[in-house]
Amino acid sequence: MSQVIRYERIDDIAVLAAQNPPVNALGVDVRRGLLAGIERAEAEGARAVLIYGEGRTFFAGADIREFGKPPQDPWLPALCDRIEASPLLVVSALHGTALGGGLEVALSCHYRIAVPSAKIGLPEVNLGIIPGAGGTQRLPRVTGVEAALDMITTGRHVRAPEALSMGVLDCVKEGDPREIGLAYARELLDNNAPRRAVCDMPAPAPIDFDAAYDAVLKKGRGQLSPAVAVRAVQAACEADDFAAGQARERELFMELMTSDQRKGLIHAFFAERAVSKLPELQGVEPRPLHQIGVIGGGTMGAGIATAALLAGLDVVLLEMSPEAAHAARDRIAANLSGAVKRGKLSSDAHDDILQNRLTLATDYDALSHVDLVIEAVFEDMAVKKQVFARLDAVCKDGAVLATNTSYLDINEIAGSISRSSDVVGLHFFSPAHVMKLLEVVVADQTAPEVVATGFALGKRLGKVSVRAGVCDGFIGNRILSTYRACADHMVLDGASPYQIDKALTDFGFAMGPFAVSDLAGLDIGWATRKRKRAAGQDPRVRDSSYADKLCEAGHFGQKTGKGYYLYEKGQRAGLPNPEVMPLIEADRAAQGLAPRVFTDEEIVRRYMTAMVNEAAKVVGEGIARRPLDVDVTLLYGYGFPRYWGGPLKWADLNGLADVLTDIRNWSEDDAYFWQPAPLLEQLVAEGRSFDDLNKEN
Ligand code: 3HC
Ligand code: NAI
Repeated sequence: MSQVIRYERIDDIAVLAAQNPPVNALGVDVRRGLLAGIERAEAEGARAVLIYGEGRTFFAGADIREFGKPPQDPWLPALCDRIEASPLLVVSALHGTALGGGLEVALSCHYRIAVPSAKIGLPEVNLGIIPGAGGTQRLPRVTGVEAALDMITTGRHVRAPEALSMGVLDCVKEGDPREIGLAYARELLDNNAPRRAVCDMPAPAPIDFDAAYDAVLKKGRGQLSPAVAVRAVQAACEADDFAAGQARERELFMELMTSDQRKGLIHAFFAERAVSKLPELQGVEPRPLHQIGVIGGGTMGAGIATAALLAGLDVVLLEMSPEAAHAARDRIAANLSGAVKRGKLSSDAHDDILQNRLTLATDYDALSHVDLVIEAVFEDMAVKKQVFARLDAVCKDGAVLATNTSYLDINEIAGSISRSSDVVGLHFFSPAHVMKLLEVVVADQTAPEVVATGFALGKRLGKVSVRAGVCDGFIGNRILSTYRACADHMVLDGASPYQIDKALTDFGFAMGPFAVSDLAGLDIGWATRKRKRAAGQDPRVRDSSYADKLCEAGHFGQKTGKGYYLYEKGQRAGLPNPEVMPLIEADRAAQGLAPRVFTDEEIVRRYMTAMVNEAAKVVGEGIARRPLDVDVTLLYGYGFPRYWGGPLKWADLNGLADVLTDIRNWSEDDAYFWQPAPLLEQLVAEGRSFDDLNKEN
């Protein structure tokens, strides 16, 4: 008797109930249980079989933890074929998320009913594979090729009413999946409904698959699985019969299963779930959160306030003057209107937020009752300390006092007030109501429940929260400073910003570093360079002046229409600014540097190696607890290609010894910049990987 599939007879209907929490993943025991259930139902003379899931969902897919391990019988494709071939009438009742193999099981049943809140999807491409249990063959037979390609190549979740209109579901009904499933199976039996196997349906009409393949490949920025899925759907149309199409699907599935992209994407899937699980927070209760305060309503403060309001929190926003407060309100209103336009917020809710849930203030007394305050004022230690002194005086006991500083020393801020243990960094990314990453920066004195509250806020706002320690730039911006410097060095040595941007977008980054600078504003980097030079920089640091010259001429990137690129009004992508190369050439000449040719491959290799080396220092120093924390930071805050899993997964996949060899070679020319991270040296010496460290922690 299977533990995970409960078998029950209700008259002439055999009921197979999955009970494999949390998501009824189709692991080997579930597959065996389903097979045994079908066989028993047939042997016992049942007339129909109902398959449904107990708990929160129908099957959410194959068990991803089994990937990469030796397969165990029955395989999911064979199980699906067996279900479909049953002479009994097989019905599935869906709730929660019927995804991947879960939907493939449903598609091999003869009828499908679902509750209205159910969602279906084939998200395999997001794991670097394609549906491998007939999904690419059965879905297009049911929906036609275009709708199936849309679902399979994007992996999007489709709500039950839409799935009904697409023909994937036969019926949508409010209720308990078991009850609606039983009633439906009974009705089908009473009406003598025929067995209806999707594999017997005619092959769908073809489209121009080469064009579809090219379009999907381009959209995926180098991600292979969506494009390969197009070829599998093509086989549904063109193969001799259903079995031949399935064989082609299997072949493509197995190829992808061994790919680095599959490894990277599955690493990303588990890393983003592991990132908020910190041993230090086990059993630690966060403090309650109802109302929050935000100080400073500029770019970041307005974004943070928007995110909080959208998540249902009340916000008190404090600015320096009534005029500044109104300007902040206008920014928030514009952000909220964007949410209305995108269908994320109703216009009634928009009005309610602005009228009732956002309070503007210029007096600190307005913050006396809030549960948590996030300061987003100018990036200046003296100003931040003044703000925290006022908070120390007015906030209630137990209020969490957070700073959104990008680089400043949070220990110094915390040490300047009487309640250091309530101080934490909550480092949002711009635009804060859109970007998913939140660095929860833990200072020396921060209390565990304050850290837990930071994570709880992140969850409430729908963010992916990463724990970081205090240093210049925390995890993300510290690593960014290093790989950005590497890009600047390559420019001095002969590469152009445009070649570098192109090489890195070809590698899979959402944007290249120079286009990113234009987007963020060149004045930010300029201010940092001036600060570092004023503080007295090590003479071995390679500096350059061409970017300063752009700023001195008033060119700050997109916001002024000119930076590394020229931006037409309303355009986000720019054309190379012809003033840039002469500035670079002048800089090279002044430094006596003869430019050399870089291949795109070398550009990527140096940039990635600089990133990995700094990331290894960040982990080695305990700023990030685990390599996966770095990976998630870069994935969610810096446009790192997800299919590489993050920089440290990339390093594992490319071999740590080779990375270290490159660093040692390049250090012959620039020993100051290319100092190997001790952790990297240690891992290479021990023959271990970053993933080994992830598993230990
Ligand atoms: N296999 C193994 N474990 C899984 C899993 C799966 N398919 N899906 C989720 N889990 C685990 C998670 O790792 C997590 O474990 P943890 O508690 O130890 O961290 C737990 O289940 C709960 O998951 P979430 O935290 O993600 O819960 P949510 O409620 O936020 O989301 C979900 C639920 C929408 C089902 C989401 O987990 C999800 O998207 N899962 C992946 C679905 C998927 O990709 N399915 C296709 C698999 S590939 C396949 O089917 C191949 C086939 O074609 C042959
Ligand atoms: P900004 O200049 O757009 O906004 C700062 C706001 O703070 C202004 O509206 C100003 O009126 C207000 N302000 C200044 N002093 C104040 C005070 N004493 N009391 C109340 N309000 C005051 O700056 P931005 O970009 O929003 O940055 C804010 C903070 O967020 C900085 O610490 C910055 O480093 C950090 N940050 C910025 C990011 C970005 O991309 N812009 C990303 C992540 C963090």
